[in-house]
Amino acid sequence: MKDVNPKRRKILKNFVKALPFIGGGAFLYPLYKFTSFEENPKDSLIIPLSELTSSISKYPNVFIRKEDENIYVFNSKCTHLGCGLNIDDKNQKFVCPCHDSEFDFNGKRLKGPAKRDLDMLSFKIKDSLLYIG
Ligand code: FES
Repeated sequence: MKDVNPKRRKILKNFVKALPFIGGGAFLYPLYKFTSFEENPKDSLIIPLSELTSSISKYPNVFIRKEDENIYVFNSKCTHLGCGLNIDDKNQKFVCPCHDSEFDFNGKRLKGPAKRDLDMLSFKIKDSLLYIG
């Protein structure tokens, strides 16, 4: 039998010892993301209505869609495991970079693995300011 390089053997041994931690991390990270998922962003936002010029505006943890005089506010976290969504303006949808869930600009789920629509957030308007949260 061929003699194995002791240095290589040691590296292999350490890798085998680390496998449970690597596997545990791969299992625990999605679990952590799921349990730390917030339906409503903690921090409240105050946005001047004059800032809302384009159809979709992105702020920390929220998307705001302005259509004529109507305003819709969505939590910008994916309803699957809470990753931050990206805006696909060309195709008029929100896309999750983690597992490819998709939502239309009304927050309706188009494609999973997310099983439900985006969370709409309540807001109020006072003195030309939009208050969220
Ligand atoms: Fe899994 Fe968005 S977090 S699809």
